[in-house]
Amino acid sequence: MEKDQNRVSLDPSRIPNHIAIIMDGNGRWAKKRHLPRVAGHKEGMNTVKKVAIAASDLGVKVLTLYAFSTENWKRPQKEVSYLMQLPIRFFKTFVPDLVKHNVKVMVMGDTSQLPEGTQKAVKDAINDTADCDGMILNFALNYGGRDEIVRAVKAIASEVESGKLSSQDVSGTVISQHLMTAPLGRLADPDLLIRTSGEMRLSNFLLWQIAYSEFVFTDELWPDFDGQSLEKAIIQFQQRHRRFGGLINK
Ligand code: FPP
Repeated sequence: MEKDQNRVSLDPSRIPNHIAIIMDGNGRWAKKRHLPRVAGHKEGMNTVKKVAIAASDLGVKVLTLYAFSTENWKRPQKEVSYLMQLPIRFFKTFVPDLVKHNVKVMVMGDTSQLPEGTQKAVKDAINDTADCDGMILNFALNYGGRDEIVRAVKAIASEVESGKLSSQDVSGTVISQHLMTAPLGRLADPDLLIRTSGEMRLSNFLLWQIAYSEFVFTDELWPDFDGQSLEKAIIQFQQRHRRFGGLINK
């Protein structure tokens, strides 16, 4: 823990623009209550609602949530099916609230592999919130950081092959422009990455984009996380000194 957080309050003028969250611990939350794992995912979905509104109210510009990774297909088929139904349930009940809060939905990942109903729910949510220009709620669905980099490299290689791009022109900016976060422009890289449930790893999330992100790991399980937990994580962020490889006081 960095300093006594109870004595430090949130500075509303220094809210991170882009927060990314690895929502972990749904299964353990359910197990503690002798419930099936999917009960944890259902509660986790409710947490997504609470935290999205809290982030929007705080003035966060992009909230990226790791909802389903390219590796999550390895889970038991019943659990995968349940996870695939969640976006349908979420958007069905929550799009009006998102619109009310001016929140725009974005999705990154290979959505073509999702069941048809899930793809439709995602498309509808994107369309229904297209005119919102407040916070972007960006779901990573069937997303993997390495898969994203492989796709970017392939796309860049084919542009070089066709003569559209010279190999000499390949730069960090060009790579960023070929990643799934490219539509976010200057907001593509998270300022703050949060992982719940006490695990301290990246699990193939935003490998390129988190180069200079601040990390906050909390022991709270995702279904127990709420607006106050988000504020605590932001307070930790505000106590950090970001240097981006340079020095603070030259
Ligand atoms: C990790 O917990 C969680 C997931 C793989 C799924 C995350 C999904 C949600 C929170 C709901 C998403 C909602 C929408 C709207 C798409 P875990 O199952 O690995 O937990 P464990 O480590 O305790 O087993």
